[in-house]
Amino acid sequence: MSDSIRVMIVDDLPETRENVRKLLQFEQDIEVICQAGSGEEAIELAQTNQPDIILMDINMPGVDGIGASQQISELVPRSQIIIMSVQSDSNYLRRAMLAGARDFLTKPFGGDELVAAIHRVHDKRPAVAPPPVATQRGATGELIESVPSFSEGKIVVTFSPKGGSGCSTIAINVAVALARKNYRTILVDGSLQFGDVAVMLNMKEMTSLVDLASEANDLDTDFISSVVQLHRSELQVLLAPPRPEMAEVVTEDHIKNILDALRNMYDYIIVDTSSSLNNVALTILDTADQIILVTQQTLPCLKNVSRFLNLAESLEYPQEKIWLVVNRASDKQGISVKNISSTLKRPVVMTIPDDELLVSTAANQGVPLVTGSTQKRPVSIALSRLAEHIEKEFAVEISSDTREAAESKSSGILGRLLGGK
Ligand SMILES: Nc1ncnc2c1ncn2[C@@H]1O[C@H](COP(=O)(O)OP(=O)(O)O)[C@@H](O)[C@H]1O
Ligand SMILES: [Mg+2]
Repeated sequence: MSDSIRVMIVDDLPETRENVRKLLQFEQDIEVICQAGSGEEAIELAQTNQPDIILMDINMPGVDGIGASQQISELVPRSQIIIMSVQSDSNYLRRAMLAGARDFLTKPFGGDELVAAIHRVHDKRPAVAPPPVATQRGATGELIESVPSFSEGKIVVTFSPKGGSGCSTIAINVAVALARKNYRTILVDGSLQFGDVAVMLNMKEMTSLVDLASEANDLDTDFISSVVQLHRSELQVLLAPPRPEMAEVVTEDHIKNILDALRNMYDYIIVDTSSSLNNVALTILDTADQIILVTQQTLPCLKNVSRFLNLAESLEYPQEKIWLVVNRASDKQGISVKNISSTLKRPVVMTIPDDELLVSTAANQGVPLVTGSTQKRPVSIALSRLAEHIEKEFAVEISSDTREAAESKSSGILGRLLGGK
């Protein structure tokens, strides 16, 4: 790379600025171009020097780091802000992200950590600035992307009535695969109480669905964009709340409004869920255009899947709304894939092979299977094929324009279950 990354350091303490500068002085591709000792000075220097990256202290007298970040994000959108703070609680992180920060370093940090954060934020810069989603359509709604797109995004939900079946693994990888095909894609962690997406993608829970819930009656694209986080694979993600008790804040109406708003911003909204069926989960399933029902070749799993299919029938879901996917498929399992299909009287749309080491390593490292060195492995190929299956399904739909999935109503689900139609 020829151009170096131009960095501005903002901190009210000169010795802290000097320490940070020293951490960067031997980096070939990073150049500290200026320093600011206050929020006010930072806003001014950002405009004149247009740095690529701003390392911003939070606690400063006068305009603090959050206030300065807010103004700089508006005035100099090309500058990417990394917050440096001794505070690392989620409320702090959330405020920083809402102010436009792209990453967060907890003081004290080492040179490696700092350099990695600068590279990470700089690498994903083109996708981040200007605001990622709303601007991908032209002013009159014409597409800027070359891929086909929908007037309304499609909601694809992974669900299994048995925990541990692989919903999160599938949701993450299918979402990444679609995003890599240049569809405007977002992954939503709808497993509100114990969402795994943040851990499996190695992301900080700076913002979550809870932030949207509080404004769910009046969601605009800018606000949604400020809550959505960008994973380093370029996938956009809406995380589950950082604490289980916060899940209560998100109601059926909230989730319905949020998903409806996302339909206007994305081509694909991939939603991960938990195995418990409360009203919010039912709303998600009801709103879905496609449910990926994940099973494994075990009796308890199949028993629950069969029960869920009965429920789906009571909910009057069309047969084709649910795709059966066998995860961790193996010939060594007692119940064959063929048997599953005949017992449940529906085709198995995809089988995803078992590879414990690969799948768990990917999750532990926060690296999706369908990217990097693992993308040619059988599990990853199957996950990519599932993404292609989704793509084909909706490509057909665009041309035939037959299905009116968006019209499915989320109200009265339990009423329909209890009282028939
Ligand atoms: N195809 C697979 N091969 C091997 N292990 C898998 C596979 N898919 C998922 N796993 C493992 O199964 C566990 C549960 O997966 P996860 O995606 O979290 O399921 P869920 O979201 O349904 O609870 C994880 O430890 C994961 O690594
Ligand atoms: Mg999960």
